[in-house]
Amino acid sequence: MIDILRTRRSIRKFKDRKIEEEKIEIIREAMLRSPSGRTRNPWRFVFVDNKDLIEKLSKAKEHGSAFMKSAALAIAVCGDEKESDTWIEDCSIAAVFSQLTAHSLGLGSCWVHIRNRKHSDEITSEEYVRGVLSIPESLRVHSVIAAGYSDEEKDGIPKDELQYDKIKYNGF
Ligand SMILES: Cc1cc2nc3c(=O)[nH]c(=O)nc-3n(C[C@H](O)[C@H](O)[C@H](O)COP(=O)(O)O)c2cc1C
Repeated sequence: MIDILRTRRSIRKFKDRKIEEEKIEIIREAMLRSPSGRTRNPWRFVFVDNKDLIEKLSKAKEHGSAFMKSAALAIAVCGDEKESDTWIEDCSIAAVFSQLTAHSLGLGSCWVHIRNRKHSDEITSEEYVRGVLSIPESLRVHSVIAAGYSDEEKDGIPKDELQYDKIKYNGF
């Protein structure tokens, strides 16, 4: 696990290459193995491999989503806030599980934040993504994870650049 964490980076450029179904199945399994508060599992995941839909999703925000256009897979991470008051935490864990699993399979990924973001002056990013993927109004859209075979080289953050000063011992 530590090797996965040491080499993980956000990837925003992807090769024009499909992800094998076996790898997608492993990502699905990993997400469904996420822990959640009181095991409420308030999440729903929409796996998108349709290029036209991915292109539409890449327009979810004015900034920070355009790169998704080249992704082979986009996973909309949604949550039902009525099922659990920890839906944001639960969705975040599932999103990170998907990213770490993707990396372990030789894939790159990047989180595109959707909740509390705007598509335009008229609609939120959540409303936009709901419209593109026919997601029911009862669900919140937390994030979209873009994934694919990486088309950029990025080193892990060197250990001596980690912010060890943010860790305190036996009190602040
Ligand atoms: C909560 C959260 C929201 C993020 N939203 C976006 C986003 O909307 N667009 C984007 O390109 N990257 C997004 N990222 C990726 C961060 O920019 C990235 O993790 C950060 O710059 C550190 O880089 P690294 O992941 O390569 O270590 C997000 C990451 C997190 C954890």
